[in-house]
Amino acid sequence: MAAASTITDQLANLTISECPNLHKNISILSPQHAELAKVLIEMEQSHLFGEWPEPGIDDDQKIAFFDQVSRLDASYPGGLAQYIKNARELLTDSKAGKNPFDGFTPSVPTGENLTFADESFIKYEETGLKEAKNAAFVLVAGGLGERLGYNGIKVALPSETTTGTCFLQLYIEYILALQEASCSLAEGEPRKEIPFAIMTSDDTHTRTLTLLESNGYFGMKPTQVTLLKQEKVACLADNDARLAVDPQNKYRIQTKPHGHGDVHSLLYSSGLLSKWHGAGVKWVLFFQDTNGLLFKAIPASLGVSATKQYQVNSLAVPRKAKEAIGGIAKLTHNDGRAMVINVEYNQLDPLLRATINPDGDVNCETGFSPFPGNINQLILELESYIEELKKTGGGIKEFVNPKYKDATKTSFKSSTRLECMMQDYPQTLPPTARVGFTVMDIWLAYAPVKNNPEDAAKVPKGNPYHSATSGEMAIYRAHSLILKKVGVQVADPVMQVFNGQEVEVWPRIVWKPKWALTYSDVKRKISGSCSVSQKSTMVIKGRNVFIEGLALDGALLVDSIDEAEVKVEGSVQNSGWILENVDYKDETLPEEIRIRGFKINKVEQLEGNFVEPGKYSLKP
Ligand code: UTP
Repeated sequence: MAAASTITDQLANLTISECPNLHKNISILSPQHAELAKVLIEMEQSHLFGEWPEPGIDDDQKIAFFDQVSRLDASYPGGLAQYIKNARELLTDSKAGKNPFDGFTPSVPTGENLTFADESFIKYEETGLKEAKNAAFVLVAGGLGERLGYNGIKVALPSETTTGTCFLQLYIEYILALQEASCSLAEGEPRKEIPFAIMTSDDTHTRTLTLLESNGYFGMKPTQVTLLKQEKVACLADNDARLAVDPQNKYRIQTKPHGHGDVHSLLYSSGLLSKWHGAGVKWVLFFQDTNGLLFKAIPASLGVSATKQYQVNSLAVPRKAKEAIGGIAKLTHNDGRAMVINVEYNQLDPLLRATINPDGDVNCETGFSPFPGNINQLILELESYIEELKKTGGGIKEFVNPKYKDATKTSFKSSTRLECMMQDYPQTLPPTARVGFTVMDIWLAYAPVKNNPEDAAKVPKGNPYHSATSGEMAIYRAHSLILKKVGVQVADPVMQVFNGQEVEVWPRIVWKPKWALTYSDVKRKISGSCSVSQKSTMVIKGRNVFIEGLALDGALLVDSIDEAEVKVEGSVQNSGWILENVDYKDETLPEEIRIRGFKINKVEQLEGNFVEPGKYSLKP
């Protein structure tokens, strides 16, 4: 009886004529590597070995090649063969111009439209704050940030330069403030810690960890934070899904990020979701790396989730027709399937034209598109989320976006890869799932930092820059508008140009999350007739700082320990802190400053720093 053939024999048979260069090297492969080589050959990837030399030359690198293949195989559900199979299908559909929404008719889903500071907004904030102790936060921070082109990781960038607080610090301070405020509302119940997970990638992992460790986790307990690293996926060189060889190294497959959709499978496979469930977590809130405003929208939108028992709540902003953000739409298929989902702006217009509106993506009587603009911040109800992931393992519908060389669509300008998006999670949910949205004002909720100065300066007038400049200015504007709402006379902004971008410059008002998380918090801490001039800077860091009848024309900084109560009053006048233009090409300046186009000249300020318990008054 003939002996069963070994994997090496099988590989030898496969490669003898098909792939002579691999054939010559079979003797150096372990059985696991031979198994992977067989998969590659069967999936028509013999070009990967096209330039492999005789055994004895570069053997270490050949082994390293298979180690990489092994990692790529292990980190994708169904392995590399499944990845290539999925890629072929998606590339074929892309070449044929197939619309993923064929057969679906869009309609406007139901959701909540909030107006800052009105009765229902205040009520939702109250509910959300109570519920916050039952939340877990997930930051997706594995992105390359190619458009921004910043040399560091995006979460290390200052959200604003008045205090220099970086995004990661800001987020952690918000989570800790929510934890403190929410637990204080639940007197008699055991105090809870709000868990915080960060998805990183090879591009961001080490630097994220170093940022946390070198700053004492910004006050959070290290055990409260979990880092989950996403793996990259193989790049595809052509329509046949041939894997792309790294141009710098013929023993490496080129890889690129798979997209933020990986967060679902990572949360699931890491066991974190079940752990959170066991600890009583009810809500998982997902957010992105550079939105300094997001947490202003969290209490109210979490309140909406809790009140309406939404399994999925997408945070959204009013969207102008054709604006380059996705629209949230209900899609109903001819066969009865229905889902509430983000439809990318370039797909929304053709879909509307082909179905319900020959004019496509147009504004309705409100002056906005009836489809709210998705800002990719999601609140998921944990129990139903876990149930769904048990079915899908966290796999998210992928897509491919090749940049073709020409209209024949036969070759690509550069290699592509499969991608998946966090917000596509609801695609697999049954039509009975409670999926809704919460619309907030843009000024309150959304100011991401995504574009470098040159590209931002080219943004057509009226469209958002999404730059470090606009992101910082948006923080000052939001704080100014909130103070206006509670009755402070805040001076109107002036228009100024930084790095070629014209922006509104409001007084530079910043407060720490622990000073105020909600509209009601701000209202409680400000009284009397107060005013702030346009040239002013106001920084409030202490929890128990009360502003009473303050007239500010200059710079004022107040910090205090939690056990100190500080009343700030009177007329504060000084030369203040002045914004000075800088050129983004000026390499003598730190990159963090250059990319915003201004620096702050701290000329004069009134400063109060209260480090002993007690009651104080700060006046000039
Ligand atoms: P962006 O759209 O900002 O993309 O991602 P990006 O990759 O960071 O930047 P560009 O496109 O190269 O300029 C939105 C969010 O998703 C995260 C980002 O870190 C950001 O918070 N992200 C993106 C991941 O976590 N993983 C990815 O693979 C891609």
